[in-house]
Amino acid sequence: MKIGIFDSGLGGLIILRDIVKKLPQYDYIYLGDNARTPYGNRSQEVIYKFTQQAVDFLFKQGCELIIIACNTASAKALRKIQQEWLPKNYPERRVLGVIRPVVEEAVKVAKKKIGVIGTKGTIASEAYIKEIQKLNPRLEVIQKATPLLVSLVEEGWQKHDVAKKILRIYLKSLKAAKIDTLILGCTHYPILYKEIQGMTGKRAKVLNSGEIVADSLSDYLKRHSEIENKLDKNSKCQFLVTDISEHYEKLGRDWFGPEIKFEKINLD
Ligand code: DGL
Repeated sequence: MKIGIFDSGLGGLIILRDIVKKLPQYDYIYLGDNARTPYGNRSQEVIYKFTQQAVDFLFKQGCELIIIACNTASAKALRKIQQEWLPKNYPERRVLGVIRPVVEEAVKVAKKKIGVIGTKGTIASEAYIKEIQKLNPRLEVIQKATPLLVSLVEEGWQKHDVAKKILRIYLKSLKAAKIDTLILGCTHYPILYKEIQGMTGKRAKVLNSGEIVADSLSDYLKRHSEIENKLDKNSKCQFLVTDISEHYEKLGRDWFGPEIKFEKINLD
């Protein structure tokens, strides 16, 4: 059995890279729904439908456990999948998201105020606020939707002057609020880690979501030997996408590595 990693597009490769670095022994299937990306501005109903199709597909490919690397899908579809769909369809298997592990780390390091940036969908869902308040209601959370950052990263413009200008505008309210911790609530944002940390300054610790998700998966597998025992250990990665083009192949090489080879599948 394999570990499935699902994302609305290719940004999840940035998270997968950290997972494979930490846990190279397992077999992974990455599924990127890049024909229908971005999910960030879509309704909950559509995000749920797309996510459920992807999860079903990955289970049929032999995944024992699926990580939803997409923050928007974790915010808007994960709970319903875990509580309603999974018990009816695959009661023995597991689907995990990226919000909970990052929030657990944030709550550990934060002093008073946590900033969260993400797509419009993630921010509107208030999923990070709800999770943080469950663990520590005394922490204040200041959010900001930063939708242009996905396009900037996909264009490879992280070092461009435009990136600095956009970040300055987006991060202004978080800096003014004197946040001490910042959550990068979107698959693509770790690519801008240095630029964001440079702008927030020493006062705010920027959390690296990829590393946190990888550490949390490692810990989860240690605690769940009944799942870990079923996992294949041939260090193989398969990359499934819903669209292939030169642009996507370049993103795959830049974000995961030169050896990446996509296979096209259909989710409809
Ligand atoms: N993967 C999405 C996320 O992490 C970003 C791209 C999209 O909007 O689909 O929220």
